[in-house]
Amino acid sequence: MNAPLSADFLQRWPEVAGSSRVPFWAYTDPAVYQRELDRIFYGAHWSYVGLEAEIPKPGDFKLSWVGERQVIVVRDRVLPKDRGTDHGIRVVENRCAHRGVRFCQEPHGNARNFVCPYHQWTYKLNGDLAGLPFKDGVRVVTEAGDCTQGGMPPDFDLKAHGLQRLRVEVLGGLVFATFSAEAPPLKDYLGPQIMPWLDRIFQGPEGPRPLTLLGYNRQRIPGNWKLMMENIKDPYHPGLLHTWFVTFGLWRADQKSRMVMDEHGRHAVMISRRNDSAVVPSAVTEGVTSFKANMTLNDARLLDVVPEPWWTIPDPSAAESSPGATITPTVTMITLFPSLIIQQQVNSLSTRHIVPRGEGSFDFVWTHFGFADDTPEMTRRRLRQANLFGPAGFVSADDGEVIEFSQDGFAQWNSDGQGRGQTLCELGGVADGIGEPPTEHMVTETLIRAMYGYWKKAMQP
Ligand code: FES
Ligand SMILES: [Fe+2]
Repeated sequence: MNAPLSADFLQRWPEVAGSSRVPFWAYTDPAVYQRELDRIFYGAHWSYVGLEAEIPKPGDFKLSWVGERQVIVVRDRVLPKDRGTDHGIRVVENRCAHRGVRFCQEPHGNARNFVCPYHQWTYKLNGDLAGLPFKDGVRVVTEAGDCTQGGMPPDFDLKAHGLQRLRVEVLGGLVFATFSAEAPPLKDYLGPQIMPWLDRIFQGPEGPRPLTLLGYNRQRIPGNWKLMMENIKDPYHPGLLHTWFVTFGLWRADQKSRMVMDEHGRHAVMISRRNDSAVVPSAVTEGVTSFKANMTLNDARLLDVVPEPWWTIPDPSAAESSPGATITPTVTMITLFPSLIIQQQVNSLSTRHIVPRGEGSFDFVWTHFGFADDTPEMTRRRLRQANLFGPAGFVSADDGEVIEFSQDGFAQWNSDGQGRGQTLCELGGVADGIGEPPTEHMVTETLIRAMYGYWKKAMQP
């Protein structure tokens, strides 16, 4: 067991305004991590578990994670009379109600029911216990006559021994689950500032746009899970760290940008529009060592960007001041606290699921997707552009590395036992920015400060 967290641990947070300093122990202390699991991942928050498109047919299932608890996401059979109100997706914990076995070992498949291999307790797709061998004992014939040996007590109730079921909500083909009865309805949890940016991708004119599954990348990154959230709330680094972005112009500091957050500061959207004159040196590339003027692409199709009609939406920030104004980003990076990133980078679309693995590591699962009405050319284009992402992506390999280096730096400073180290996030000021109008540029760390402002509230003793 780890040492328990002291009741006043948050008083050790650096005494400066807002959340512009983050102590290294927030990333390295096992007791802090345990509280994160309890308060955040198993508390009143919604976690992404997958796409509906991954389980299209009744009985289809996939394994997923809420924090460190493995769950099964499954499409149940729904009676015709319930089809209007029941999306049919169930999420149950992969832990047998008998003796705790993680019984399902296939990462995905199709099942009529779930059977634990140990003693063959059998569960319906919705997690109800359907039956178990020897429940009523074993009938034997003895010289003294027939008798029943063993079995469960007569009052054993199947209904009381199903799998742990999670609450489930489906939003535009994204499946979310929570162990918490207190989590607000999903749309309220996400908030009105974030919803237009989700609807932009997932809602068509006639309802949710059917998605297609294009493939996966998976990687384990040796860093604290929050560093991945920070990375996608940090619009400042892509124009510096990523040679690919800076050189080929998909993300640079002079692009028109906007940073949106929800009213709690926990979710965010980084919105930006690529400059039309892409590959030219400018003031923002001067002195930036990652800009490589002589670097060219062998295959120009990686930058074969084709604008799509859904990129343009009514501008949510201008609804009152200039009705009818529209906005056309080429990139939106949505962070849904605690564990989901939704990426649109030109024609490439993916979800990225953060699965924590202790305080110093997380699994990062990329699910690349498209739309069911895409042409074959568009599908190929989305797949080609997906080469920028994933563990070996032209861009994202850099992020995995700097997250590892960050965790190494924290560990090195904390090795003196004093726990004094801290990060500094003052770009754009020290305030959290919650309740303020969105920042209309990318030279800011406001989204990171806002997340830690919320994190401290969620972690209060
Ligand atoms: S542990 Fe699952 S049936 Fe016994
Ligand atoms: Fe990055």
